[in-house]
Amino acid sequence: AFVVTENCILCKYTDCVAVCPVDCFYEGPNFLVIHPDECIDCGLCEPECPAKAIFSEDDLPDDQLEFVQLNAELAEIWPNITDYKAAAPDAADWDGKAGKLQYLKR
Ligand code: SF4
Ligand code: F3S
Repeated sequence: AFVVTENCILCKYTDCVAVCPVDCFYEGPNFLVIHPDECIDCGLCEPECPAKAIFSEDDLPDDQLEFVQLNAELAEIWPNITDYKAAAPDAADWDGKAGKLQYLKR
């Protein structure tokens, strides 16, 4: 499956949602996740993310490995999102900032 990683937090651009053919994104207050059992590995979302936050599970950077579990866990709790919506208002300021995991809201 593909995995949403830390740089999505506080950005949430949602360009990924607009292209997913199986609608397997789930939305929290300031982050999105992919349901690992629903993702068909089409790869369409990865290049769409302005924050470069989406990776194939096989290509995950070492410091993002915990997001495999976070995507699986939160996709079971959060509601499905199927349409593009406006990014967080200060998304551009947060894009690329380190240490955003501490701000994840559930
Ligand atoms: Fe959806 Fe394809 Fe991205 Fe999986 S890889 S989340 S199926 S767009
Ligand atoms: Fe997040 Fe990138 Fe999608 S910032 S909402 S993974 S387009």
